[in-house]
Amino acid sequence: MSSLAERDARTLIHPFTSLEASADRTMVISHGEGPYVIDDKGRRYLEGMAGLWCASLGFSEQRLIDAANAQMRKLPAYHLFGGKTHAPAVELAEALLGIAPVPMARVLFTSSGSEANDSAIKIARYVWAARGQPGRRKIISRVRGYHGVTLAAASLTGLAHAHRDFGLPLQDFLHAECPHYYRFGRPAESEQAFAERMALDLERLIQREGPETIAAFIAEPVMGAGGVILPPEGYFERVQAVLRAHGILFIADEVITGFGRTGQMFGSQTFALCPDMITVAKGLSAGYAPIGAVLVNPAIEEQLLAQSRKLGTFGHGFTYSGHPLSAAIALAALRVYQDDDIVAHVRGVAGRFADRIAELALHPMVGHARAVGLVGAIELMADRRRKVPFDPGAGLGARLVELALEHGVILRPLGDVVSFCPPLIVGAAEIDQLFDAVAAALQRLENEFPELHRPRRVA
Ligand SMILES: Cc1ncc(COP(=O)(O)O)c(C=O)c1O
Repeated sequence: MSSLAERDARTLIHPFTSLEASADRTMVISHGEGPYVIDDKGRRYLEGMAGLWCASLGFSEQRLIDAANAQMRKLPAYHLFGGKTHAPAVELAEALLGIAPVPMARVLFTSSGSEANDSAIKIARYVWAARGQPGRRKIISRVRGYHGVTLAAASLTGLAHAHRDFGLPLQDFLHAECPHYYRFGRPAESEQAFAERMALDLERLIQREGPETIAAFIAEPVMGAGGVILPPEGYFERVQAVLRAHGILFIADEVITGFGRTGQMFGSQTFALCPDMITVAKGLSAGYAPIGAVLVNPAIEEQLLAQSRKLGTFGHGFTYSGHPLSAAIALAALRVYQDDDIVAHVRGVAGRFADRIAELALHPMVGHARAVGLVGAIELMADRRRKVPFDPGAGLGARLVELALEHGVILRPLGDVVSFCPPLIVGAAEIDQLFDAVAAALQRLENEFPELHRPRRVA
């Protein structure tokens, strides 16, 4: 009888994986306990990435399991098309509108973050048609932004591997510069001046294309899969001023930053964003069920109503929009966030998280370390003084992650950036366990590559 990993290797197409990866490198995850997962050999790992930035309540939250069981018994399947509804969808929409960081009026449910972003783009175009400007079709995102993988969401994503050989990005998708001050700030350029330059770049892009052709701008408050890039000081203030000047809609992609991750309920609060639409997924159900959502503000609500009145329908939505099981689980997750005051907990441990990441920055192979709330990263550099990256072919980020696994921690490399995004329920002891493992892995990495040119260790 073949092992599960061998059967997997014969049958599955894995997302974002080299499809020739061998079966002996496949990990079979058997079950979960709090912030830990356990593999089929009984080895226990701290999940340093909350799965894919989503299992914010860990892997055994009984209140979500109970909510799922109760909903399965009551109404396991239904839809919201053509005037049907059910309590979990309505209650979840009310709960979301109740915690939204800026006044929001309605919610469209989806099954994923990609679908939420696709839907937000369609809503933006629909609303511009309602306003008598159907020529506003173009969407601006940013280089290194990550917004998902459906045709439109992948077009928003500003990463080459999401486009190459897929015929992407589609027409009418534009990318503004990546606001990564550490990497792209010029010598002697202040963070504020860099933010100003990024906003000017956006302004020039809009002028080049014609403001009357731009429907919306989409941004993650903190760029996640592009390398955990925090916005430089003053960046969003300036960018929002540019958008306002041209009447361009602003979509905040809070798929990672929503529900406490940055130390406030939404990243929009942490970074003073005032979006017209917000997309969420992942933490919405703590990763326990596939569900996403688009929240729209009152002005968009009004135009959506007007346009659907004119056309006779709102011609969009999914079989699983507001699926009762997913909605019930998400509602339970929002209750846990509230009952356990998850935001206060994140703030309580964020200092230790930041301190431990900052310590890693002392290592000679680490060029930069950054954190907000319970999300952070280190960026490896061959020469940190002159900011010279390692040869990407050397795969040092991936190797560091392999070594961390041997020390009992699951992480993911984003090139030579290694990110940290543990379940929000972690305490000080687990944060220490996470970064002790990373420090040990870094030491081993340094020992493995003595030939790499590096400046002398700074104590
Ligand atoms: C910021 C952001 N937006 C959108 C998505 C896409 O979400 P999904 O994979 O659920 O389609 C992701 C997934 O990682 C994300 O990080």
